[in-house]
Amino acid sequence: MPGNKTFNRRRLLTRIVQLFGVTGLGFLSYPFFKVLMPGLSEDGTLAVDYSELKIGQWKTVSWLGRRVIVYRRGLRWSSQPVSLKDPLSDRSIQPQFAKNTNRSHRDDVFIFFSNCTHLGCEVALQPEDPAAPIACPCHQSRFDGAGRVLEDAVAAANLEVPFYRPVSANSIRLERQSESS
Ligand code: FES
Repeated sequence: MPGNKTFNRRRLLTRIVQLFGVTGLGFLSYPFFKVLMPGLSEDGTLAVDYSELKIGQWKTVSWLGRRVIVYRRGLRWSSQPVSLKDPLSDRSIQPQFAKNTNRSHRDDVFIFFSNCTHLGCEVALQPEDPAAPIACPCHQSRFDGAGRVLEDAVAAANLEVPFYRPVSANSIRLERQSESS
């Protein structure tokens, strides 16, 4: 029927225009994201330089809708014995390279998502407690220097570790690749 053909053609044209609109918006918005997040590549990877961090300091970067913390904990971070829920990270989320007691590529730097594994609040640094330098303000879950949750916390799992690669002595690149254990 001619009426139906016209209707279908109009729908097809509308879809094509919508598709071009969405694609164009993506291309147009990329430079704005680039300004907001210097180091963000088109493929979604983010370069993070942390050379300015001294021992005990951390910095937060926004990446793909989440916040990632780079914490220069120093080499002696694990000197405090504490009771942990998941000491070997068997029940926690991290890339394969971080499934160990350090949970990182480098002993002295720990990189993790900022959300508490209980209900997602942003964790905070509490350097006055070397046994548990990371804590959640919502329900007081505490984590050691590798984001491993202490036995008495309400959070059930260690803090999540993103996939990243070392790029130079003091920088990494966050990548989407999920190599979770
Ligand atoms: S959200 Fe962190 S302890 Fe509840």
